[in-house]
Amino acid sequence: TLGGYSDFMAKEIAEQPAAISRLLKDRLGKHGVELDELSMSNDDLAAIDRVYMVACGTSYHVSLIARELVQDWAKIPVFCEYASELNYKEPLVTDHTLCVIITQSGETADTLTAARRMKALGCKVFAITNVLGSSAARESDGTMYIQAGPEVCVASTKAYTAQMVASALLALRLALANGSMDEDEVRGHFASLEQVPGLMEEVISRRWQDKQAARVFRNAKSALFLGRGVNSTTAYEGALKLKEISYLHAEAYPAGEMKHGPIALLEPGFPVVAIVPADHVHDKTVSNIEESIARGATVVAVATDGDERVAKLCENVLWIPPCPEEWIVPLVAVVHLQLLARYVARARGCDVDKPRNLAKSVTVE
Ligand code: M6R
Repeated sequence: TLGGYSDFMAKEIAEQPAAISRLLKDRLGKHGVELDELSMSNDDLAAIDRVYMVACGTSYHVSLIARELVQDWAKIPVFCEYASELNYKEPLVTDHTLCVIITQSGETADTLTAARRMKALGCKVFAITNVLGSSAARESDGTMYIQAGPEVCVASTKAYTAQMVASALLALRLALANGSMDEDEVRGHFASLEQVPGLMEEVISRRWQDKQAARVFRNAKSALFLGRGVNSTTAYEGALKLKEISYLHAEAYPAGEMKHGPIALLEPGFPVVAIVPADHVHDKTVSNIEESIARGATVVAVATDGDERVAKLCENVLWIPPCPEEWIVPLVAVVHLQLLARYVARARGCDVDKPRNLAKSVTVE
């Protein structure tokens, strides 16, 4: 039931802090992060020399962040593939390749087909899913349940952030197994994850900022989302949310790519959503904001509390509290973009829970 919320999207956005807390509970064991669901010995985990991450839609965006974490922490090369693409090409599988499928429903046909293929090629397949006993869980060698509770709204929100946390735990486990990280480092990153529920609560309490910023899109036909590093993915996810439920065309680019084409779109009033947290690429992204404003674009920024440069440049800022590490920002910033998409869609009279032409789980290839 809706339990007082006007739609499932609002309810599921609000459920994210609790979902993340549930997922983190009892994960920190004697030897670092516990991930018994992998059903693999420490030696087998240590031997993994390549990871394929396979998914669709929002779950694919999770894989893009997971790639950065596994590569940074466990020093293992990662290939992210849209399941529908992998199904028509030849994956480069080694004797020690792990395939991770990420699927909220566990029933996405393309993802299941890819998993079967990777298994036939000799890979261990590990599923990250929300649905107990789903096909993905039944057919995989190991399953990690994100325990986010039923996600009813077609647009994925709490599954996105919970899947991201699950992938971070996987990355920590792999790093610990192959010795790329010691227990203290693992505990340090885990402590950062433990701050996420509180940071999300804070963003949710600032939802009036999203409601206000939604006005920028009132007469828009299109919008451009920009971000750098892990937050290029936040931009992809924000654009997907907006187009999926508001039917407003939205595109996302790594901010540095703007000058290689998308800048031609800019004209007075064109909405640009720039994710510009306090991080090592902040200066560069601020330059992109300046370039956008110089061409008359209306920039909605997602920035960190206290950022005076951004406050001076942009009328509409979606503020996030300071995050303990840069990779934590995508989990926090995306909550604003979920809220923004919802307010824009409602202002345009759309049914946010059941967008046209879409199904909650896509069971055909
Ligand atoms: O259940 P899955 O995670 O496998 O679903 C994959 C996509 O169909 C899904 O994430 C879709 O992109 C969402 N509706 C986006 O909000």
